[in-house]
Amino acid sequence: MLKNLTDTVLLSPSIIAADLSLLGSFVSSCDRSYIHLLHIDVMDGNFVPNITIGPGYIHNLKQHTDIPLDIHLMIEKPELSLQSFIDCTPYFLTIHYESTRQPVRLLKLIKDSGLKAGISINPSTPIESLYDILEYTDMVLVMSVEPGFYGQKFIPSSLKRIEKLNTFIIEHSLDVVIQVDGGINEDTIADVVKAGARIIVAGSSVFKSANFNAQAKKLLEIAKKAIV
Ligand code: DX5
Ligand code: ZN
Repeated sequence: MLKNLTDTVLLSPSIIAADLSLLGSFVSSCDRSYIHLLHIDVMDGNFVPNITIGPGYIHNLKQHTDIPLDIHLMIEKPELSLQSFIDCTPYFLTIHYESTRQPVRLLKLIKDSGLKAGISINPSTPIESLYDILEYTDMVLVMSVEPGFYGQKFIPSSLKRIEKLNTFIIEHSLDVVIQVDGGINEDTIADVVKAGARIIVAGSSVFKSANFNAQAKKLLEIAKKAIV
């Protein structure tokens, strides 16, 4: 899935923007041609003020789809429950840089389990904080809103952060893809792709739409045109 991402874009719609009581039917009607990954936001009411779902729920949800999962852990001390999320066998498992004192150990654990490891970074954390640990990760998730809720406005300085990170990745020939998450819609998607993001999370702009497959297709078309 990660091959040739310089030439294309993957869409990872965030299911927390859908009706959480109906997720099974939402995910089973997703069209794989436009919805390449399902972004699952796990929140603990501690690292972020909101609480969503856990590993048991994710296991049940998997029965309703074969779209690969992209789990975004917004939980304090992910080391305490990491194995239970590894056992969900997502395609990506992402931890937050700010949530643990041992990101390298956790990234290695995820990779050694045969999954793709991601590290996410909040808007207020200097992007350079990640430079020394990029070799341990497959993906960097650049948050373009404060984590915690869908439907927030894109923070414009995220573009410079993505550009800076992308330049560093290219200059050092690193095998790391950039994901962006928060406030992505028809107005912001082209700019994040131009800046270097290749996996695009979109919550409300996909799942608040009556025809979410058509909306995903539309976003993807805009994104693909923006590849430079
Ligand atoms: C925010 C979550 C995002 C969010 C995206 O903490 O990580 O994935 O659901 O939703 P939108 O696209 O509506 O900002
Ligand atoms: Zn997310």
